[in-house]
Amino acid sequence: MFFLLFLLTPLALAVSSALADSRTLVLYDSRLPEFTTQYSKLFQTLESKNFDLELGLVGPDSPSPDLFTNGFRRYQNILVLPTTSRDLVPTETLLQFVQDGGDVFVISDNKGIQTDVALFLNELGIFPSPKEYKYKDYHNGETLDDPEVQNTVVLPSAKSISYTDGSVALLSNSELLVPVVRAPRTSYTVNVDEGRLSTDSTWHSGSQGFLFVGFQGLNNARVFWTGSSASFHDASFNEEVVDALVNWTFQISGLIKATSTKHYNENGDAGYKIKDTTTYEIGLSHWNGDQWVPFKNRTDVQLEYVMLDPYYRLNLVPTREENSSQIYSTTFQIPDRHGMFTYKVLYQRDGYSFVDESTTVPVRHLANDEYPRSWEITNSWVYLSSALAVVIGWFAFVVLFVFSGNKHFDKEKTE
Ligand SMILES: *[C@@H]1O[C@H](CO)[C@@H](O)[C@H](O)[C@H]1NC(C)=O
Ligand SMILES: *[C@@H]1O[C@H](CO)[C@@H](O)[C@H](O)[C@H]1NC(C)=O
Ligand SMILES: *[C@@H]1O[C@H](CO)[C@@H](O)[C@H](O)[C@H]1NC(C)=O
Repeated sequence: MFFLLFLLTPLALAVSSALADSRTLVLYDSRLPEFTTQYSKLFQTLESKNFDLELGLVGPDSPSPDLFTNGFRRYQNILVLPTTSRDLVPTETLLQFVQDGGDVFVISDNKGIQTDVALFLNELGIFPSPKEYKYKDYHNGETLDDPEVQNTVVLPSAKSISYTDGSVALLSNSELLVPVVRAPRTSYTVNVDEGRLSTDSTWHSGSQGFLFVGFQGLNNARVFWTGSSASFHDASFNEEVVDALVNWTFQISGLIKATSTKHYNENGDAGYKIKDTTTYEIGLSHWNGDQWVPFKNRTDVQLEYVMLDPYYRLNLVPTREENSSQIYSTTFQIPDRHGMFTYKVLYQRDGYSFVDESTTVPVRHLANDEYPRSWEITNSWVYLSSALAVVIGWFAFVVLFVFSGNKHFDKEKTE
C-alpha cells in the first residue's frame, strides 16, 4: 500500500504541474448581457497565447469555483471580469492560490468590486475605490491620451487608454507593488451619492491614484488590477495594452532567471583563506516569448559578500555570453576575516521576476607556516638588526675579554 502511495505521489505531482501550466479560469457573471460576445477579442488574444480557458460562472445560485483539488492548484491563472455579485471566491482561497504560485488578473469597474476580491487586494496593498465612487476628469474626459506609464517592463508603450466607468486605487508603500499607470493630475474619484465635493467624498485626487497596478510576490506569482474594463471590451479593445498586461500577469513577459553561478579562487586552490582573490560569476537569461536569451546590458546587478552584514557590495559587469545567458562577474579580495561567507545576488527590479541566489563558503585563517617570515617584513628589520647587534656585540665582548685579559696575566707570572 505504502509502496503504491510512493509511486502515485510523483505521478500526481507531474500531472498537476503539466495541467496547471496554461489552465486559466475566467470568472464571469451570467447576469451581464451577451457576456461572451462582449469579450470575444480578449478571449481570442488569450487563446492565441495557448491559454486553456475554462469559464466559471458566478452568480447568486452558483457556488464559488474550486481552485484546489486535494490540495493541488487546479489552475495557473485566474481572470476575474466585472461581475455584479457580492462574493466570488473567499479571500483566504485567493491568497492561498497566489501563495502557491498562481496568477490573478482582476478587472473591475465603478459598479463595484466583490467584497472578498477587494479584501484580497487590500491584503496586497491595493485599495480600489468602493462602489459609489466614480472616476472623473473634466479636462481629458475618459480617455488618457498620453498616459503616465510608470513601468515599461510591464507596459512597454501605450498611445492612449480609454478608462470609462473607472475606479481608482490607492496604494500602500509595499515594495512588492508595481505601479503601472498613474491617474492624471486633473482626475479625481468622487462619491456620487454624496452629491458634494469634500475630502470625505473623494477617494483620490490628482496623481495620488493608480489606474493599472501590478503585484509580484516573493515567489514570483503575479497579481494585476485595473479599475476599468474599457480596454478589454470588444467595443473599445486596446490590443497593445491587453497584450502587454496579459503577457506580464500570466508570466510571458518580464521573466528572468539565473542559469548558473560559479565562484573560484584566483590562485587555483579549492578552498579560500583570508585575503585570497576570488571571482564570482552569475548567468542571467531573459524569456523573450519564445526562448531564453541572454539578459543583456544591465549595470545594476550587484553581489554582496556577507557574513551577518555585507562586507562588500560590488557591481557585477557583463563579461561574456554563454549557453544563451549573459555572464556577469567580478573579482575581489576576501577581507582579512575568517568564517562562513555568503556570495549573494538579490536582484529585485520592478516588473522583472526576482532572482535570489546565494552560496556559502568557508574562509579559513592562515596556517602556522603561511604567515610571512620575519625578515620579509620591513618593520621587523629594526628589531632584527638590534638583535643581531647584541649577538655581534656579545661575541666581540667575549673575544676581547678573553684575549685582552690573558696577556696581562701572563706578564705578571713571568716576572
Ligand atoms: C506578448 O506575448 C506574445 C507571445 O505570446 C508576443 O508575441 C508579444 O510580442 C508579447 N507582447 C508584449 C508587449 O510583450
Ligand atoms: C546593449 O549594448 C550594445 C552595445 O553597447 C548595444 O548595441 C545594444 O543595442 C544594447 N542592447 C539593448 C537592449 O539596450
Ligand atoms: C554551458 O553548457 C556546457 C555544456 O552543457 C556546460 O558544461 C557549461 O558549464 C555551461 N556553462 C554555463 C555558464 O552554464
